[in-house]
Amino acid sequence: MNILVLGSGGREHAIAWALSKSARCDELFVAPGNGGTASFATNVSGINAESGEEVATFAREHAIELVVIGPEAPLVVGVADVLRDAGFAVFGPSAEGAQLEGSKDFSKRFMARNDIPTAAYATFEDADAACAYVTEQGAPIVVKADGLAAGKGVVVAEIVEDALEAVRTCFDGGFGSAGARVVIEECMTGPECSMLSFVSNGVSNPMAPAQDHKRAYDGDKGPNTGGMGVYSPVPIATEDELRQMEDIMQHAAEATKKEFALDYRGCLYGGFMLTPEGPKIVEFNARFGDPETQVVLPRLESDLVDVMMAVAQGKPEEVELAWSDKWAVSVVLASAGYPGSYEKGKVITGIDAAEELEGVTVFHAGTKLAEDGSLLTSGGRVLNVVALADTFEAARNQAYAAVDLIDFEGKQFRRDIAAKALKGRSAWA
Ligand code: AMP
Ligand code: GLY
Repeated sequence: MNILVLGSGGREHAIAWALSKSARCDELFVAPGNGGTASFATNVSGINAESGEEVATFAREHAIELVVIGPEAPLVVGVADVLRDAGFAVFGPSAEGAQLEGSKDFSKRFMARNDIPTAAYATFEDADAACAYVTEQGAPIVVKADGLAAGKGVVVAEIVEDALEAVRTCFDGGFGSAGARVVIEECMTGPECSMLSFVSNGVSNPMAPAQDHKRAYDGDKGPNTGGMGVYSPVPIATEDELRQMEDIMQHAAEATKKEFALDYRGCLYGGFMLTPEGPKIVEFNARFGDPETQVVLPRLESDLVDVMMAVAQGKPEEVELAWSDKWAVSVVLASAGYPGSYEKGKVITGIDAAEELEGVTVFHAGTKLAEDGSLLTSGGRVLNVVALADTFEAARNQAYAAVDLIDFEGKQFRRDIAAKALKGRSAWA
C-alpha cells in the first residue's frame, strides 16, 4: 500500500524508516520530510500539512491507504478529522483527542475526572488571582501556559519571585495566545520516564519505555530543549512502577473512548514522573515523542504497518508488539546556539562512516540535501545518532563512537546521555 507520513523531524524519519521495512509498504511519501527521508522515500514539498483538504487531495491523487500524522500541530487543527471524513485510514487522534496535548487545562480536567494520578493544580485567567495563588502555595511551584508553546511554556520555579514573573510573562503575551490561560501545578519530584502507547477503541498497547534528556547541557543544566538524547529500556524504573504506568495508560485509553465522540486512534504519550507516591502523569502528548521514537521503534520487531493500520481501523485486538532485548541509546547533535538562535547551511560529513559501525543508525532532523548532493544543516536539532547493542554500556559507547565520526561546524551535543541511569536509581536521590 501507499503511505503518507506528515512531518520533518527525527521522529518522522524513524517512523518512515520503520514503515519502509514492511513488505506491505509500496510507495512511501513524507511531507515535507528531511535530508534523511529523501534517501528511501519521496519527500513532498508544497502541501500545507495543517490543511486537511490539501492533504486529502494529495492522498487521493497518490492512492494513499494510510496517513500517519507525526507532529501535534496538524492534529490540534483537525487534519485527522478531515481525512477520516474523506474515507482515509489515519494514524492520529481527532482534534478533540489532541486537546490532551493542545490544552494543559483540558488535559488536567480529563485527568481529574478520570482519577489519573497527576500533580495538584489550579487554572487562572487573570494575573492577580494567579499571583495570589502562587504566593499562598509557595515555592517550588510550576507555571505553565495553557496552549502549545513548542515546549517553552513551562517554568519550574524554585523561588516565588520566578513563578510570579512566569505568570506575568504568560499574561503579558510572552507565549502568544497559548498564555491567555495559565495552569499552576504542585512541583513533583523523581526521575521522568516516557511511555508511548498505541491507543485505539479504548485499549492501550504500550510500547517499551524510554527516558529523554530535556536540558541543553551536561548535568541537566541549561534551558529546556526538545530533547538532547534518550535511551530505552529504562532500568531505573522498577517492574512495579512499569506495571503501574501501563495500568494508567490503559485507564486513560478507556477514558478516551468514554469521552471522545471519535475514539482516540494514534499514539498517546504518557510523560511520567516516578514520584515517591508512585508514577504520576506530567503531561500527555497526542503523538509519538521526539526523540523517544528514535530509540523505541528500532527495538520494535513487529511490522509497523500492521500495527498502525490496526490502530487506524479501531482494531486494537490485532495489535501485536514484540520487542528486541537490545538496548538503544541516542545522542542528539544540535546546531551551536540551540535552543536559542543558530545558523543553518553547514555541511555535514561522516554519516556513512558512523552507520558502518555495528548497530548504528542515524535519523535526521534538521537536515536538507543541497542541489549538489551535499547534506546541510537546516534546523536546531540536526541528527539523532542511535546505537543498539546487547548491553546498556555497549550501546552508549557505540553511540558516542559514532558521534565522534560525524562533523559539522558548530556541532553541539551532550556527553552524558544515559550516564546517570548507568549509575542506578540512587543517582536521583
Ligand atoms: P511539560 O511541557 O508539561 O512536559 O513540562 C516540561 C518539563 O517541565 C517536564 O518534562 C518536567 O521536567 C517539568 N515539569 C512539568 N510539570 C512539572 C511538575 N508538576 N513538577 C515537576 N516538574 C515538572
Ligand atoms: N520528548 C518530549 C516530547 O516529545 O514532547
